[in-house]
Amino acid sequence: MQILKEKDALKKQIAAFKKDNLSIGFVPTMGALHAGHLSLIKQALATCDKVVVSIFVNPTQFDNPDDLEKYPRTLAQDVERISQLSGEVIIFSPPASEMYGNTVSSEKFSFDGLEHQMEGKFRTGHFDGVGTIVKKLFEMVEPDKAFFGEKDFQQLQIVKKMVQKEQLNVEVIGCPIDREINGLARSSRNERLSPEARQNAAFIYQVLQKVKQEFGTKSALEINSWVSEEFKKNNALELEYFEIADEETLMTMQEKEDNQKYRAFIAAYSGDIRLIDNIALN
Ligand code: PAJ
Repeated sequence: MQILKEKDALKKQIAAFKKDNLSIGFVPTMGALHAGHLSLIKQALATCDKVVVSIFVNPTQFDNPDDLEKYPRTLAQDVERISQLSGEVIIFSPPASEMYGNTVSSEKFSFDGLEHQMEGKFRTGHFDGVGTIVKKLFEMVEPDKAFFGEKDFQQLQIVKKMVQKEQLNVEVIGCPIDREINGLARSSRNERLSPEARQNAAFIYQVLQKVKQEFGTKSALEINSWVSEEFKKNNALELEYFEIADEETLMTMQEKEDNQKYRAFIAAYSGDIRLIDNIALN
């Protein structure tokens, strides 16, 4: 395993891989790695000759400076977790100056409206920040395949859109959501929940599963009001949004169409900790 901090060292290594015709898998992360991240890295190792994992807490995607400051930075532990996987991994963990030089700012993107739905309504500038850093990283790593979790489904669709619009030569692969035993989607934020709050947060997935069951028989309107009632009765969590949306456009479902795929999405707060989750409905 190698740990690189400089983009020039990374580019040199990538050039050597390319020369040998080796395929490159890429898993971008912000560190604080948990089993969800590791499942992406395992999938990359299973399908590519070499795997690059970036660990970089990207300042431009945080709309809240406090959140950026509090974001866990656990490089030694991350390295340890990756070293337990079998396969050759290159860790790229640059300082902000390597990625942004002296001006830490975002490029402005259009993702054909994907950026205005759900997370985009509540996290101003977030997806410009994600687009900016993912594009920079893709240019440095030049991956054949890049692996993103369905946990952040909107992010996954936005990265696919960016690749399409910028005509980048990368295959973007969506990977299933890894969950804790009680069903809660794994997230580095779960560590900040008390044991009781962590147990209560499993409610989010329980609601999503029930929505999936009812999707064939009840209307979106009925499901929406059921979900909001369930959250009103729950004192441990506060619902920020619930959406049933088209998987491709992320637009709120109006009339259900037979050949379209839909997903249900939830964002909810446990105290000041924001949690998101989603489920495929058909
Ligand atoms: P981060 O939150 O560290 O997540 C890195 C990758 O892990 C993302 O693709 C995310 O969807 C995936 N992931 C997180 N939890 C998961 C889970 N429970 N199951 C499956 N996959 C999971 O997402 C980011 O970082 C950043 O926005 C980034 C893309 C690195 C750009 O800065």
